[in-house]
Amino acid sequence: MSQKSITIPQDFILGAASSAWQTEGWSGKKEGQDSYMDIWYKNDRHVWHEGYGPALATDLYNRYREEVALMKQAGLTHYRTSINWSRFFTDYEKGVVDEEYARYYDNFIDEMLAAGIEPMICLEHYELPAYLFENYGGWASKKVVELFALYAEKVFERYHHKVSRWFTFNEPIVVQTRVYLDALRWPYEQNTSTWMQWNHHKNLATAKVVKLFREKGYTGSVGAILNPEVTYPRSSAPHDVKAAEMYDLFYNRVFLDPMVHGRYPQALVALLEQHGVQWDYSADELALIRDNTVDELGINLYYPHRVKAPSRAWNPQTPFHPAYYYEPFELPGRRMNKSRGWEIYPRIIYDMAMRIKNDYRNIPWFIAESGMGIENEGQFRNAEGVIQDDYRIGFISEHLYQTLLAREAGANCQGYMLWAFTDNVSPMNAFKNRYGLIEIDLQNNRARRAKKSAGWYRALRETRTLTLNIDDDWK
Ligand code: BG6
Repeated sequence: MSQKSITIPQDFILGAASSAWQTEGWSGKKEGQDSYMDIWYKNDRHVWHEGYGPALATDLYNRYREEVALMKQAGLTHYRTSINWSRFFTDYEKGVVDEEYARYYDNFIDEMLAAGIEPMICLEHYELPAYLFENYGGWASKKVVELFALYAEKVFERYHHKVSRWFTFNEPIVVQTRVYLDALRWPYEQNTSTWMQWNHHKNLATAKVVKLFREKGYTGSVGAILNPEVTYPRSSAPHDVKAAEMYDLFYNRVFLDPMVHGRYPQALVALLEQHGVQWDYSADELALIRDNTVDELGINLYYPHRVKAPSRAWNPQTPFHPAYYYEPFELPGRRMNKSRGWEIYPRIIYDMAMRIKNDYRNIPWFIAESGMGIENEGQFRNAEGVIQDDYRIGFISEHLYQTLLAREAGANCQGYMLWAFTDNVSPMNAFKNRYGLIEIDLQNNRARRAKKSAGWYRALRETRTLTLNIDDDWK
């Protein structure tokens, strides 16, 4: 075991993240203001862990003052959340702001600013209005791209003098991949063309919003929060390497390239055509994407992704899916977070940092989500009732260490944000895997209680030094 210490630069973000739908609850929500997540939950509650969902969530809508006081106690420099598009308007087509909901955000943001915590706001963390999903097919429609730009315009108008770091989407690939590619989520359709159309329209929407923000002359930046998976091939053999490259092309480069370089990879466009994937795009749209790349990226990284070459021929009856080119690979002996079923491999952060440095013009970026979800955390409670989450402290230490090493090696990395500030509702997993620095007590009216990690996080902020033990002995 060796002990290492590394300095955390003064301007380095030490924050935490969350989203509107995963925290606020339905208090004050009006008829017709459901989001995609709300209708999925309403239509398919049985797949949500123990029936928990967005209905009450952490009741943040009523408890944001208490929450901000806890953020201050935990030493957060920044907090990232979303505004809930489905609740921000009473009419999505005319852009009529719901004053009651907007006032909640006015107050919440003011409270953060007064506490010295910088809010970072995402415009969509899966909160596509159900109305737009049902009436236009959601992101399959160009009309929805227009209406998103209208929403961004109204949000910027109201908050540009208070918030300077904006993000269009959180993990823009996720909903359509789960619904249209893998058919794992309501409404369980399988349609690869629809998947690609959603991808394209989210890239287009990002470019439109970047353009709008610049034309208005607002101070600040517009970025996006992506979840590229660091994908390692099983072996160095060309067929396995190709499997990893294909995975990267379909799931990572489909957003990274247009958002940072302003163009889709030629190889991707050619493969989509070869496999009969139809998506509607025009030369004007591609030009808009080319001319309006993002200012910065938030990167969500939880686990490494490993693939190998497919071992069987593709079933010709099955519509094209990128899995045509790869199969998942499990590394024997891998370190696991057993609650979540995810491998733990902190090196992903350093590897992603070097990728951004070398292949993505060293654009400014930060870790927007990293964290450890653990089931039944109550078992780790001490006599005073405080959860002793040393495993989380260890996880953050190792991942933050890799982030800081990458920065020392020239990565343009601006910070580290933990997922999540409090325990909250994940899609389907609901409160199953607890991620927070702050516990949410479901048996006691969503009461908040700081875990051991909250005090440790605060000390990081105060000392600006990370000290950790590295298990490197030959035993
Ligand atoms: C991230 C999402 O990918 O994973 C979050 O951005 C989500 O919204 C988080 O809550 C954790 O998910 P899970 O399923 O492990 O609880």
